[in-house]
Amino acid sequence: MDSMAPIGVFDSGIGGLTVLRALLQQLPGEDFVYLGDTARVPYGTKSANTVIKYSMNNLEFLERQRVKMVVVACNTASAYALPALGELSPVPVVGVVEPGALEAIRFSRTQTIGVIGTRGTIKSRAYERAIHALAPEVHVMGWPCPLFVPLAEEGFVDGEIPRSVVLHYLGALARAEPQIDTLLLACTHYPLLYDLLDHMANAIFDAPVTTVDSATAVAREVSTVLDETHSGCDRKEGGQVDYFVTDLTRFEEIGERFLGQPISGVQQVDI
Ligand code: DGL
Repeated sequence: MDSMAPIGVFDSGIGGLTVLRALLQQLPGEDFVYLGDTARVPYGTKSANTVIKYSMNNLEFLERQRVKMVVVACNTASAYALPALGELSPVPVVGVVEPGALEAIRFSRTQTIGVIGTRGTIKSRAYERAIHALAPEVHVMGWPCPLFVPLAEEGFVDGEIPRSVVLHYLGALARAEPQIDTLLLACTHYPLLYDLLDHMANAIFDAPVTTVDSATAVAREVSTVLDETHSGCDRKEGGQVDYFVTDLTRFEEIGERFLGQPISGVQQVDI
């Protein structure tokens, strides 16, 4: 494996930039190729077969860019398609489910974890399986929160509107027994709502809740796989990112808030 080859990252659209942000912090010397399937977003409302088909297309595009590894930043794609992608790919594939599951288990004191994500991610029960594979005794409560995606994209991350949506979802989750002590953000968009979710969860639930964003855990896992496969690049900084999308609409403008830095040179591709 060419250690100077880029790392491929794909998502259904812009949300995966929250994962890329953590990757850039953890691995500043690596080059990345980011693919956002903005023409076919959202994945969270689609069937398993459709998400698997789209994810295969994304993998094939990244293979053509000669990447040394593929990071499936999209939770819905990881939840539905990771086994199929792993079988097909000649290079290592890292998803977000297992690192997120591990991180949530680490934080939970009472072994009760709430997983919030898209309808697809929750329906797949992938997080439940991943958590139970590592810690069978943990109680897992999956809760779809589909409205958080448009809120994050439109910049509604605080104020009356997001507060009432958060109250709607977390209020219902708090009424389910047993109450959770750890809230895992199992969607690329939810880190933008981190402060609000953390604050409101601690106000709504009876006991303190730890809110877990898995992006850092994913970046650590990527770093571990690079070490294990001896494919990390020697450079310590100065890595570049090439951005590809399947539809150009507002990617740079919205994406900046997800990545935390300006984005330029985005290319539109047919995959
Ligand atoms: N990227 C998706 C995820 O993390 C959220 C947006 C979508 O539904 O495509 O599940």
